[in-house]
Amino acid sequence: MIELVCPTVAETMALGRRLASLLHSGDVILLSGDLGSGKTAFASGIAEGLGVEERVTSPSFVIVRTYTGLMPFTHVDVYRLQSSGEFEDLELVEYAADGVLVIEWGPAVAASVPRDHLLVTLEVAADDRREISLFPKGTWRSRPLQELQL
Ligand SMILES: Nc1ncnc2c1ncn2[C@@H]1O[C@H](COP(=O)(O)OP(=O)(O)O)[C@@H](O)[C@H]1O
Ligand SMILES: [Mg+2]
Repeated sequence: MIELVCPTVAETMALGRRLASLLHSGDVILLSGDLGSGKTAFASGIAEGLGVEERVTSPSFVIVRTYTGLMPFTHVDVYRLQSSGEFEDLELVEYAADGVLVIEWGPAVAASVPRDHLLVTLEVAADDRREISLFPKGTWRSRPLQELQL
């Protein structure tokens, strides 16, 4: 596990941009953290790092949005889904396999995504700081996540 502290939203986005440089098509990232903890900010940093030019907004009402970048970037929010069965019915893992899939409130559907994935937790600390922890699962353990530390 790697823990990083991001004092500002700009730094949370910059961490997402740095993470993007380690991503390959088919990668799945689960984001966990309370409302307002910075999941969408972090996801939009990943999108920027993947060359997405469009502004990334919260997908909480539409559930899923796909953006064009160096590879497709699919951004999902499963908060409003009732069950992991409902998530599986959407077949988003298959749909996003040629790009990067980022899922807000991701732990709710962890059993329905590939075992090899990255779990990112965001916690609000004092002075707006965010404590961001990276939990690599499966083959993600051999990725050079320590490079993300500045
Ligand atoms: N260090 C920080 N990292 C991320 N967001 C921050 C930080 N400090 C303040 N914020 C603010 O917190 C809010 C996070 O919102 P958002 O990314 O939509 O959260 P979530 O998707 O988890 O609900 C934004 O308004 C952002 O500007
Ligand atoms: Mg959000």
